[in-house]
Amino acid sequence: MSASALTTDPRLKLVDRTIKKFDARGDALLEVLNTAQEAFGYLSPELIHYVSHELRVPIARVYGVATFYHLFTFKPKGEHTCIVCLGTACYVKGAGDIVAALERDFEVKSGGTTQDGKLSLTTARCLGSCGLAPMIVVDGTVLARNEPAATVERVRAATTTKVVS
Ligand code: FES
Repeated sequence: MSASALTTDPRLKLVDRTIKKFDARGDALLEVLNTAQEAFGYLSPELIHYVSHELRVPIARVYGVATFYHLFTFKPKGEHTCIVCLGTACYVKGAGDIVAALERDFEVKSGGTTQDGKLSLTTARCLGSCGLAPMIVVDGTVLARNEPAATVERVRAATTTKVVS
């Protein structure tokens, strides 16, 4: 992902919100990285640079912290990623059923990647667009007001197209 693609990515809003919540303090680095990983599924070099810049923390330190904790990954696991928001607004509108349907249909557990490496399924806390609940993000595209069967179809369509990055 290029730096310009990153700045227009809707998932960055979530990272920005966490940065703002902590007044862009450097000691919020772990929390911000956690949000970034949750929103994007992994920490790209562009994302690491962004966090470093926004928190005014040297890039080496960002990498140092990110590599110290095993929960962070630096590469997308699957060819495609689907993030289902499980924040309160999305959850009450059926996000749990969406996760269950995706897990069943793609034979993958939340937090995992399908055996063929095509799809990584993750969940996140509020992605900051509750009016779109229940919302999911497939390969960086926000999809609003989802329901289980249609979501499975949309994700299936996405996983049969090649990612161009
Ligand atoms: S709870 Fe899903 S976007 Fe806020």
